[in-house]
Amino acid sequence: MSSANAENNNEMVVTPWEVKGKVDYDRLIREFGTQPLNPELLARLEKHTGKLHLQIERRIFFSHRDLDTVLSLYEQGTKFVLYTGRGPSGPVHIGHLVPWIFTRHLQEKFKTRLYFQITDDEKFLIDDESTLAETSKWSYENALDLIAVGFKPKDTFIIYDTKDIDLLYDITLEVAKRITYSTARSSFGFQDSTNIGWVYWPAIQAAPCFIHKKLTGENVPALIPAAIDQDPYWRVTRDIAQKLGYCKPAQIHCRFLPGLGAGGKMSASMPETSIFTTDLPNVVKKKIWNAFTGGRGTAAEQRKLGADPTVCSIFQYYFFLFEEDSTKLEERQRKCCAGEMLCGECKIDIVAQLNKFLEGHRERREKAKDIIEEYHVKR
Ligand code: TYM
Repeated sequence: MSSANAENNNEMVVTPWEVKGKVDYDRLIREFGTQPLNPELLARLEKHTGKLHLQIERRIFFSHRDLDTVLSLYEQGTKFVLYTGRGPSGPVHIGHLVPWIFTRHLQEKFKTRLYFQITDDEKFLIDDESTLAETSKWSYENALDLIAVGFKPKDTFIIYDTKDIDLLYDITLEVAKRITYSTARSSFGFQDSTNIGWVYWPAIQAAPCFIHKKLTGENVPALIPAAIDQDPYWRVTRDIAQKLGYCKPAQIHCRFLPGLGAGGKMSASMPETSIFTTDLPNVVKKKIWNAFTGGRGTAAEQRKLGADPTVCSIFQYYFFLFEEDSTKLEERQRKCCAGEMLCGECKIDIVAQLNKFLEGHRERREKAKDIIEEYHVKR
């Protein structure tokens, strides 16, 4: 695979379908050939958004391709559109919400459209066990989560691949014709045993980068906020965009919210270490109670020696989502290292915060059922 590969079990693997091992983000920047978000670019962003979003300030979004170009065009009066998506393999977890929360911030600040692709076809093709009926059920469920994040129907267009293939198909053909099998194989790691649907599939994730022109006649770039696992798609798409008369899509990449185990990203395929938006309070409590932390073997030892928040999954949830006040976050970190706060206390706090957040999210998710049709692309 083009992405960082594993030679043994502990080594990093980051592909659109698998993230394993300890993720070295500096190495990903080098190997994927992206750019770090530098202070100059952040100052430019701040001019447009006002105070930088927490996810930028904390470098949860840490890397990009052509964000500078998109901002230059914007400053000259050419808008961009946002594009992101979800592969509906099961319920949405709080890791998925990380890029969506930031996307909503960008949408509000730049007053721009979002195209959101739901790839029921992708999940059907890559998972031997899944059926189209299942992935289409999850498409609906996952769309409710997107709407619950707060996107407004006026500027948000959800594309359900199998239902909306008429919107995408001609673009996918143009894209597919210009990507050789050799490029696809080296970018995505396809094998002789890979089914041919999957081999074609990257053309379908590329298509929404260009859909705005088809729908409105305006040729503007798409800016894609997503975790860095999706980057291989954009590399192949960027190579052919201009040949097809489109702007190259730009990206802004985020880190992975870890799972509740030791290392690895939060992943729907490991339900016991993921917090799903539909998890009820007692389930959240149980999962958090079993979570891996940086704590010591006994309370006495921890009071004496302190713990290690840098390896603690719970601390990461405060960092990514649940402690917006950086002074309070530093204080939590200090107390943890000094042995003044034990893991149990931190877990009790996060359970309360998570359940409060999820309760609000679930209420908005219920309301989304009445308006979901308004987000569907009109013909
Ligand atoms: P999917 O469903 O695997 O992931 C949806 C989005 O969530 C991001 N993500 C995470 N972000 C932070 N922490 C995590 N633990 C975490 N796990 C997943 C992913 O990077 C993604 O942004 N093929 C895609 C669907 C898709 C798409 C797109 C995604 C279609 N078009 C355009 C991004 C942009 C998929 O299966 O995503």
